[in-house]
Amino acid sequence: MQNFIYDIPTKVYFGKGQIENLPKELAKFGKKVLLVYGGGSIKKMGLYDTIMELLKDFEVFEVSGIEPNPRIDSVREGAKICKDEGIDVCLAVGGGSTIDATKFMAAGTFVEHDPWLFFSEKNTTTIEKALPIVTVLTLAATGSEMDNGGVISNPITNDKLDRGANCLKPKVSFLDPTYTYTVSKYQTACGSADIMSHIFEVYFNMTPDFDMLDGFMESMLRSVMKYAPIAMNDPTNYEARANLMWASSWAINGFVVGGKKQQWSCHKLEHELSAYYDITHGLGLAILTPQWMRYCLSEKTVSKYVQFGVNVMGIDASLEPMDIANQAIDKLADFFKNTLGLASTLTEIGIDDSKFEIMARKSVKNSVVNGFIPLREADALEIFKMCK
Ligand code: NZQ
Ligand code: ZN
Repeated sequence: MQNFIYDIPTKVYFGKGQIENLPKELAKFGKKVLLVYGGGSIKKMGLYDTIMELLKDFEVFEVSGIEPNPRIDSVREGAKICKDEGIDVCLAVGGGSTIDATKFMAAGTFVEHDPWLFFSEKNTTTIEKALPIVTVLTLAATGSEMDNGGVISNPITNDKLDRGANCLKPKVSFLDPTYTYTVSKYQTACGSADIMSHIFEVYFNMTPDFDMLDGFMESMLRSVMKYAPIAMNDPTNYEARANLMWASSWAINGFVVGGKKQQWSCHKLEHELSAYYDITHGLGLAILTPQWMRYCLSEKTVSKYVQFGVNVMGIDASLEPMDIANQAIDKLADFFKNTLGLASTLTEIGIDDSKFEIMARKSVKNSVVNGFIPLREADALEIFKMCK
């Protein structure tokens, strides 16, 4: 177990009607607000009107139309408004894409260079300052409402790259599960697969660490598997939406990492799929995860699968370890396919093998991803092939 810093400064207002506290929280930062949102779902559900009414004493500027897999152009637009208008605080209302884009608008305000350099020149650019970020979450998935990072796409270069910094952690997040009642079955499924993947990326680790954190992650996985289908079939089920929302935040806010150190691997592979084919992040993860698990399974790693199989997937602990591991992966694949209704192969979503080589090379950045098992280009290529 390594030393670590635990630092989650985000104040969370959780539950119905908490939005009434928004003006009070924004006022702490100033009067000029940049409101950022996506393609219109917040207007359809009436949240836009609610927020504009609450912000009647503020000066509000807007950036709308943030795309799923948000583009660097949106970030540039927002950063420019922040600079030109002297914005005091950025308010993101939406899912992970909107929140991610907002984070880099807030950081882009304080630099002279193109915000894309935060991603393309990760080693030489710093992110030390950002405008305060406040979020109103409308989709349980990415955890961006309570974490330090985001992922931005550049369609010109076919890159989708992540970046994190402490100052990007939202100051305040409003988590009202009723705002997710309108999320489609498909996005609920994809969001749930994403939450689960965030947990897997940390859980599948052979370094001894807090037993308590493993238990916490197992409990979150069971919860997401229980409530995702309920929310899909009964979209206004408050309990289900609330459980997914809080799991979204806690899967990736830093708590479960404890003293473990390792790079995420499935996400690196998925970001290449999204970069080249603009697919929904959670869908890519649902296709990749079972195959990544199969690829990483060996005598060396099997004990982690046994723990997962018994504690999360309910498999008989008296079976042979390899049997438990394989059954656990099969059950997970079945959950993604038959319970969440997501595709299980790349072919099903129209992706052929023509870009496998370049995606494999880019996913490991010409080097190695030291994840659950180290992944080099050849390993990444094999996993893409297994997903065909
Ligand atoms: O654009 P609008 O109209 O808002 O519609 C969105 C969008 O079409 C819709 N939606 C959101 N809330 C809704 C709703 N529709 C009806 N009712 C609501 N209440 O859902 C669609 C998807 O939205 P998006 O924000 O793209 O989804 P998500 O939250 O899954 O975010 C995905 C992005 O986050 C990145 C992903 O790579 C992807 O780019 N990630 C960010 C992470 C982070 N910041 O830590 C970690 C993740 O691993 C992930 O990589
Ligand atoms: Zn994710």
